[in-house]
Amino acid sequence: MNKLYLWGIIITIAMLGATYATVGYQKGGLNDDIVNMLAIAGAVALVIITVFVVIKYVRQMQTDQATGELADESWDNIGEYKNPVPFGWAIMFLGTIIWGMWYFIIGYPVDAFSQIGQYNEEVAEKNAKFEKEYANIKGEKLVEMGESVFLAECVVCHGANADGIDGESADLNRRIDEESVKYVINHGSNNKLLGTEMPMPDRNGLFNANTGALISDAEIDAVAKYVANGFPADDKEGAAVFAGVCSSCHGADGRGMAYVAPNIREYTSELIVNVLTHGKKGAIGTMPSLERLNAKQKEAVAAYVISISKGE
Ligand code: HEC
Ligand code: HEC
Repeated sequence: MNKLYLWGIIITIAMLGATYATVGYQKGGLNDDIVNMLAIAGAVALVIITVFVVIKYVRQMQTDQATGELADESWDNIGEYKNPVPFGWAIMFLGTIIWGMWYFIIGYPVDAFSQIGQYNEEVAEKNAKFEKEYANIKGEKLVEMGESVFLAECVVCHGANADGIDGESADLNRRIDEESVKYVINHGSNNKLLGTEMPMPDRNGLFNANTGALISDAEIDAVAKYVANGFPADDKEGAAVFAGVCSSCHGADGRGMAYVAPNIREYTSELIVNVLTHGKKGAIGTMPSLERLNAKQKEAVAAYVISISKGE
């Protein structure tokens, strides 16, 4: 047999073996999967065609005689035949250049269509539809929507009962705990709770108007207890500190003042929306901002938190 064909057959077998090793030799083998069968069938066809086409050209090279008219130029004594550019090829070449320009300038990259653009458009469309459909829901329905947002977005950290999972995050059944109040007094607070930059000073900036002195450790303990327990009327000591130190900003009843200090007696929709928008750092840890929620969802989940913190 011709030596070339012998080599062709050897190479074919070697390549088929390699193909089987990569495609076929897997868990379950070939029989398991039609896609693997198709892949290997394709590979077999390609390998055989490639090897024998190569053999054909190798043989042709051994015997071929070139003819034709040589061009005048010669590079290091290597001549070149005068080969006119095939007409069809030339047309395709020019066409490709023109198409390329069109594609670059008017087609994909510079002009509008892209998958990301399409995605953004569809999200904007859905959001607009959502806002329109739910623009006027309030009361029970709003709380219901808020509950489903809560289940999807907040339960991981705050727990199904919103109890903060053993101190992992804030217990939302109540306004604020004693540790958090002490922490805020000791460190100040700068969480944009009012929506804008309006920090609360730390203890070095908190004077008791009734004594004229900076707030003391004992006063901090007393007022933290008072605030965390929901401003009980019989806690005269805490109430006195609150009146002397805190009421000038948080109001006599702790319900806050617009643009000055937040309500620390009950949750307000505004405060919760601001926490969702800006996140919060405090005694317990850090809550990330949840910007992916739209305005209605924030309003709804705030309504839900307010409803559970009132013990309903
Ligand atoms: C100078 C005004 C001012 C005084 C006085 C003040 N606060 Fe505040 N307080 C603020 C502001 C403003 C914020 C909101 C800060 C922020 O955005 O993080 C705040 C926030 C808080 C918070 C955080 C609420 C939350 O949801 O995390 C608590 C608790 C608090 N104050 C308690 C007190 C107590 C108790 C006193 C008195 C000992 C007091 N504050 C005195 C201005 C004041
Ligand atoms: C990645 C965890 C995490 C997620 C998710 C999360 N929170 Fe929080 N949240 C916290 C932590 C931690 C705190 C306590 C921060 C601190 O130390 O005061 C907190 C505090 C709060 C507070 C108390 C704010 C205050 O000023 O007292 C509210 C209200 C709140 N989260 C509501 C929500 C709502 C509603 C959602 C869902 C839309 C949510 N959180 C999702 C971790 C989370």
